[in-house]
Amino acid sequence: FPIHSADFVISSPRADKCPEPDMPEFAFIGRSNVGKSSLINMLVNRKDLAKTSGRPGKTQLINHFLVNEQWYLVDLPGYGYAKVSKEDRKKFMGMINHYVKERPNLINLFVLIDSRHTPQKNDLEFMAMLGREGIPFSIVFTKIDKLSSNQVRKNIAAYGKEMLKQWEELPPQFKTSASSKIGRMEIMAYIDNLVDA
Ligand code: GTP
Ligand code: MG
Repeated sequence: FPIHSADFVISSPRADKCPEPDMPEFAFIGRSNVGKSSLINMLVNRKDLAKTSGRPGKTQLINHFLVNEQWYLVDLPGYGYAKVSKEDRKKFMGMINHYVKERPNLINLFVLIDSRHTPQKNDLEFMAMLGREGIPFSIVFTKIDKLSSNQVRKNIAAYGKEMLKQWEELPPQFKTSASSKIGRMEIMAYIDNLVDA
């Protein structure tokens, strides 16, 4: 999946300030520090297109990146990290909720989950909201380089089991490592299919 171009377009404080919704777009969401910005860089083969940080709360606005002049990747602020101030968390959650509900060209939301963690209430609640609103999403288990492949398998199975308590079927799932570039082909193929659909 050749990337001919990947360009930063704009940072927006609100969904209604985003670019005209005239191209398909794919957005990345999840807890602060889960690796949303790093995953975008990995997908487009650019080290520093989206700004990353070891400190949670780095991405504070809705960031649009145009890929191959055909579709957008969107980096969002994270939700629900205790080290981010309560006011910021509230502000980010408002931006995120408004964005996912109001963006007509949003084809798929990638919900990122740290593959090391047990199922978290805020992630499960967020996905329940997506279900109620009919917003298509898939799950990306991040940072798999930090675990053995056996432990990754176990954690993902446990996650699926928990989700099946509230869902009839599981959404599409991906495993990624931004540092080892694992999962890039799978996600790009998935996006490519949806863009052409
Ligand atoms: P916010 O913008 O604060 O919501 O965070 P984010 O989800 O965009 O996370 P970001 O991409 O900034 O990454 C957070 C930290 O995790 C950084 O120190 C990254 O280097 C690290 N990181 C991200 N992805 C991976 C990965 O796949 N493997 C490893 N080992 N570290 C990762
Ligand atoms: Mg970020």
